[in-house]
Amino acid sequence: MKNIYLFLAIPIIILAIGCKKEMEANVEGVFSGGATTIFDETSNAYTFPSNNLSTVDADTHIEADAIFEQKFVTGEIFNKDFDGLGPQFNHVSCSGCHLRNGRAAPPTNLNEPSGLLIRLSIDGIDDYGGPLAVPGFGGQLQNFSDMANDREADLFITYLPIQEIFPDQKVVTLSKPFYKLTNSYMNLPLNLKTSPRIASIIPGLGLLEALSEETILEYVDEFDKNKDGISGRANYGWSVEYGKKMIGRFGWKAATTSLKEQSAAALNQDMGLTNSIFPEENCKGQTNCVDDGVKDISLEQLEQFTFYCQTVGVPAARNQGDSMVQRGKRLFTQIGCDKCHRPSMKTGIHPSIQALSNQVIFPYTDMLLHDMGEDLADNRPDFLATGKEWRTPPLWGIGLSQVVNNHIRLMHDGRANGFEEAILWHNGEGVTAKKAYKLLIKSERESLIKFLESL
Ligand code: HEC
Ligand code: HEC
Repeated sequence: MKNIYLFLAIPIIILAIGCKKEMEANVEGVFSGGATTIFDETSNAYTFPSNNLSTVDADTHIEADAIFEQKFVTGEIFNKDFDGLGPQFNHVSCSGCHLRNGRAAPPTNLNEPSGLLIRLSIDGIDDYGGPLAVPGFGGQLQNFSDMANDREADLFITYLPIQEIFPDQKVVTLSKPFYKLTNSYMNLPLNLKTSPRIASIIPGLGLLEALSEETILEYVDEFDKNKDGISGRANYGWSVEYGKKMIGRFGWKAATTSLKEQSAAALNQDMGLTNSIFPEENCKGQTNCVDDGVKDISLEQLEQFTFYCQTVGVPAARNQGDSMVQRGKRLFTQIGCDKCHRPSMKTGIHPSIQALSNQVIFPYTDMLLHDMGEDLADNRPDFLATGKEWRTPPLWGIGLSQVVNNHIRLMHDGRANGFEEAILWHNGEGVTAKKAYKLLIKSERESLIKFLESL
């Protein structure tokens, strides 16, 4: 008798689980990256090629994966393909900062390479409308160097506590970081501007590159005509490859126009590797820095870095059928988070990768710049972005941060510890949403965070 029940029970359970998965898959937003979406919730969730790549493209992706992980070495002795690192650098591989393609945390040991870097400039703009480089230092602090050269400077961080008090008397203490450079190899100018940036996640970037310019501009409201206190606008950066201004998409201030330029800049600035787009060594005043004129990175290698960043699949949203998650999702809209974290859009035609074209995606970004207030400001303009403006970051995959990278450090320099702190840092155009969040009752706040965790 018992056995009969068992015989009946097992298929019913299997059927029930099957139905649940089926229902979940039908809830809007599960396929965060359209057909590129990956179904994996492990620490590898950010590391799979887009699900819909052709066999040839999937093979190219797997080859390129190796170079993203590759540690480069200084000098020209060891290995012809992977040498040329430095003389100045921040890290030795892409994945050193983008660990498992994920976000970095602010370093606990500032004397070790980390995923936090500091952009530099002085007052004024360069010939292309970008930040003006610092004599002797360039546009980024490289706090590591080869043996023949000095590191540019050491980084030093102090913190100021900021208290946020909720109507129900809950208190959260935020830590506001201040960045200082010490022991510089030559004098730093008095009007030095610094912009701290933490390494962000790699999945889905190709889809953002495939958005048409019109789609991005749909949400622009530069003069806040609808009077909601939010005035998103696009950044336009300089494309070295095309020799013209183009809409900016990448980086925390959307100053970079394509994944090829972002990769080329990372190679040159973060690792000291010259390439076709940025052929000059990144040392600006070091006496032992010799430029041999040979490009450290071949054209083919640059294509590989680019292709890899374009084709990492986005992990699916999870638990979308859960009632708490659904409540959180409603609240996300009710309190106006969706005004900048635009839930959905459709990609246009990607110039080279068909799998990225015409996908309905759920990135939760408008790709636009917003004034986020004084406390988040770096006071360092970057093309059209002012010192207070930041690009709304995508939220897809964000709920897997803990699983993939063992931390939930958020915002442009990783200052927020967890989702609630991230929300509490929203000021400027984001202040209405933050105030509305603080006014929610505890269970509503928990539902909203549950929703973020499901992305
Ligand atoms: C020293 C740490 C570091 C290294 C090494 C590094 N990155 Fe990054 N990466 C960052 C930071 C910080 C940002 C954000 C930059 C900004 O805001 O301008 C970033 C941003 C990016 C982005 C844009 C992400 C977005 O959401 O807009 C891409 C693509 C990228 N990196 C690719 C690479 C590639 C390819 C390599 C290796 C060639 C690499 N990175 C090496 C720290 C690093
Ligand atoms: C005015 C536009 C705007 C509104 C409204 C807004 N955000 Fe943001 N959000 C941003 C910007 C811009 C950033 C990045 C700021 C920075 O890094 O300094 C950000 C960052 C975040 C981050 C951290 C992302 C990361 O990768 O580090 C989370 C989480 C987030 N927002 C959630 C929310 C939630 C929840 C709400 C509603 C309570 C909300 N946001 C409302 C613009 C907005």
